[in-house]
Amino acid sequence: MIISLEEPRHAAAIEALLDRSFGPDRFKKTAYKLRDGVDPIPELSLVAIEHDEFGNEILEGTIRYWPVTIGGQVAGSGVPALLLGPIAVSERLQGGGLGSKLIRMSLNKAAALGHRAVILVGDAPYYARFGFTRDLTLGMALPGPVDLDRFLGLELAPGALAGAAGMVGSAEVGMPSVIPNGVAPLAMAFSASRDISESRLWRARTA
Ligand SMILES: CC(C)(COP(=O)(O)OP(=O)(O)OC[C@H]1O[C@@H](n2cnc3c(N)ncnc32)[C@H](O)[C@@H]1OP(=O)(O)O)[C@@H](O)C(=O)NCCC(=O)NCCS
Repeated sequence: MIISLEEPRHAAAIEALLDRSFGPDRFKKTAYKLRDGVDPIPELSLVAIEHDEFGNEILEGTIRYWPVTIGGQVAGSGVPALLLGPIAVSERLQGGGLGSKLIRMSLNKAAALGHRAVILVGDAPYYARFGFTRDLTLGMALPGPVDLDRFLGLELAPGALAGAAGMVGSAEVGMPSVIPNGVAPLAMAFSASRDISESRLWRARTA
């Protein structure tokens, strides 16, 4: 299995995996309003690839992130954050740890790049293991209906979401979802033993 950055050639397979995982109605979800017209962040969008006996790529997993801002009266003046999702793993590999690996690798890279906070709409029992909590999003609102128990946040830098409140809006790629000169204080805070092998894998695949 190779985990690498998503490239344009993966787009069709990603859409097919997402259709199988979430159904064709997925575009009606509130989270898609925050993705509409905005590209996923290329440095954080990963694919998991196997190769068949002929060397053809088989997409087994995908994770994407989008730039958002929280609150702020003027466009772009809110607290910058990442929106995680969608993430999907092929049915035959579910439960084998690939989803966790995609999440931990991308969160580590996000922290290393200086991103400070992540929000998502997803199953709390799953995302709690990565540190996501509902507490951090209590003051926030999304631009559509959502089960609020599934609206979760994670601080990559301590205090990054303190005082973050108001409507979450989409942000253009290239807007500062990273604090200038920001460092990544928790860059390696996720599951030490896995991080070592994952960061090696990351370097191997991106060198
Ligand atoms: C959710 C998903 C990405 C997880 O990836 P995965 O590779 O199957 O997950 P992992 O192997 O890393 O983790 C498995 C663990 O997560 C748990 N888990 C998986 N999906 C879960 C969910 N939706 N809610 C709660 N727990 C979940 C499993 O029970 C298992 O628990 P255990 O470690 O205690 O045995 C994958 O199952 C998937 O693509 N599902 C369909 C699409 C989807 O629902 N995506 C978004 C989820 S909000």
